[in-house]
Amino acid sequence: LADGPLAGRHLLITSGPTHEPIDPVRYIANRSSGAQGTAIARAAVRAGAQVTFVTGPADVPPPEGVTLVRVETARQMLDAVEAALPADAAVFAAAVADWRVLSEAGRKMKKQDGALPQLELAENPDILATVSQKTEGRPGLVVGFAAETHDVLDNARAKRLRKGCDWIVANDVSEGTGIMGGTENAVTLVTSEGEESWPRASKDVVAEQLIDRIAEVLA
Ligand code: C5P
Repeated sequence: LADGPLAGRHLLITSGPTHEPIDPVRYIANRSSGAQGTAIARAAVRAGAQVTFVTGPADVPPPEGVTLVRVETARQMLDAVEAALPADAAVFAAAVADWRVLSEAGRKMKKQDGALPQLELAENPDILATVSQKTEGRPGLVVGFAAETHDVLDNARAKRLRKGCDWIVANDVSEGTGIMGGTENAVTLVTSEGEESWPRASKDVVAEQLIDRIAEVLA
């Protein structure tokens, strides 16, 4: 059996972007690399946790030693998360697409002289909010991320309350920070007790710190 501060604990982690199909060859996506979520999963494995890692199509290779569930869309991610519960803690690091195309075309859409395709969008399920607001089977600790380009802290505080999660890891992903797709992160942890800003560090170090804090509260 694994040892470490999270031995015997089940952690559920989401990571990466989602891809929302337009037609068989096109999709809507975002710039998430999956680096931070993967680093968190590696740190959790090192801490002895049993980890279920639900990932969209990421740029970085998945961590070792996890139960790996690969998905493409937000709806598939929600199904995989539901199937992975119960968990002692859940960390939602995925950059889930807010919208999907309402009706995916069954065949490749063709260019037609001058006529532009109209894409009708539908809202995706909010996985973090869904799990946070469960009355039965809610993980003891639910952690969300808030990647913002402005008013980072205000948005993060509001997001924590709106979604019903316990912690928000807030970060500034404005252009020029190099955080999205980069190797470093500078985050503020927002909890019911207040905020802590952590110095800018590698995503691995940020992951270690987050896992240490999770281990503390689960102990
Ligand atoms: O609302 P916003 O997308 O900024 O919230 C970010 C947090 O919510 C992240 O933890 C992300 O993983 C989670 N989220 C989710 N499902 C969505 C949208 C966001 O789990 N559909």
